[in-house]
Amino acid sequence: MTTFPDYFNKIHLAVCDSTSDYLKQNIARLEADFPLMVSSAVQIAGRGRENRGWISPENLGIYATFGFYLPDSRGLSLLSITAGIAVISMLQSWTGKVFALKWPNDILADEKKVAGILCETIIKADKIICLVGIGVNINHDTCDFPTVLRSRAGSLKLLTGVEWPLHCGRERLAASMTSWLKKLAKGRRADIIGRARYLSRSFLGQTISFHHQGETVQGIFLDIAPDGGLLLGLPGSEKKIFYSGELD
Ligand code: BTN
Repeated sequence: MTTFPDYFNKIHLAVCDSTSDYLKQNIARLEADFPLMVSSAVQIAGRGRENRGWISPENLGIYATFGFYLPDSRGLSLLSITAGIAVISMLQSWTGKVFALKWPNDILADEKKVAGILCETIIKADKIICLVGIGVNINHDTCDFPTVLRSRAGSLKLLTGVEWPLHCGRERLAASMTSWLKKLAKGRRADIIGRARYLSRSFLGQTISFHHQGETVQGIFLDIAPDGGLLLGLPGSEKKIFYSGELD
């Protein structure tokens, strides 16, 4: 068993429902090729977090799921943030633009969401199988998004005014995931948290609406905790760390 990615094997599909579902449904066969990146030109039923869909028009975005083993369960709480950092690193070095990390792992530019990440894990005997699904809006025009999303969704094309080659983006994404997952494997937690704090700097100290288990609370985004949680300042000087939920 290869314990951690030094590289990713790659499968590119013409079409699928969801690259994450494809990997899951074929896990018995595909595990032999781990670490593996499955990408697709189009997804018919792309999935987002909180049971939402992910709009995946043909050849407009990167739709990819990375399958690999996590060697140490201590890395699990930082997995989602690490993937967010990897996506931002790749986007910044590729385009020269500035991107922000919205905890835990939405990626924004000019306050619009350009990428999202869906982390899933399967614990099987002695193995922690990670499936990290990443969607990046690359060459979308505004009309490619449903009307309700248009004010909040962005793409590299909308941000820069030019089109970006998808195959280059996929290669760069795999390289960046490799490099950041290696840091996670080596236990470089302080580097990861430091980078996450820096990339979240526009939220630090801000009053936010936070949705958690069906409830919405107002609080101050105080920090990202050393284990990757969100440290929220609540009324009455209470502080609480959250491990799931969404910022507005
Ligand atoms: C989110 O922000 O809600 C997460 C979106 C994740 C979308 C990606 S696209 C590739 C992979 N396949 C899916 O069905 N979803 C993820």
